[in-house]
Amino acid sequence: MRFVWLIALLCNVAVADAPNPQRQQELLNMLKHDCGSCHGLPPKGGLGPSLMPEALAGKSDELLLDAIQKGRAGTAMPPWQPFLNVEETAWLIRQLRQGFGQ
Ligand code: HEC
Repeated sequence: MRFVWLIALLCNVAVADAPNPQRQQELLNMLKHDCGSCHGLPPKGGLGPSLMPEALAGKSDELLLDAIQKGRAGTAMPPWQPFLNVEETAWLIRQLRQGFGQ
């Protein structure tokens, strides 16, 4: 299963696909309002851990993609798979790594 995610990520990087501008706006709103309610804005941490570039630096895209898509069982982190496809999730991770909301 992890292997499948990795392939999906690699393909995404290879074609450097990004959601269309309108969808990008929706995704950034989601980061602010939905993710921000637990991770803060800027996402320095709250109920959920910090998602600032420094905090993500040592963490792989695969690990973050997995956490966002599937959530973390037994914690407040819900799965976002119903709302975000793999490409959109990878794009959000790039925004976070670039310091979204600072
Ligand atoms: C209801 C609260 C809540 C919301 C909403 C939420 N998260 Fe989380 N998130 C958490 C918690 C709590 C954790 C820590 C889970 C754990 O202990 O492993 C977490 C973990 C994560 C992690 C893993 C971080 C790491 O260091 O391993 C990422 C990435 C993440 N969230 C991104 C997001 C994104 C992106 C969104 C919005 C699409 C979001 N979260 C929305 C509560 C939330």
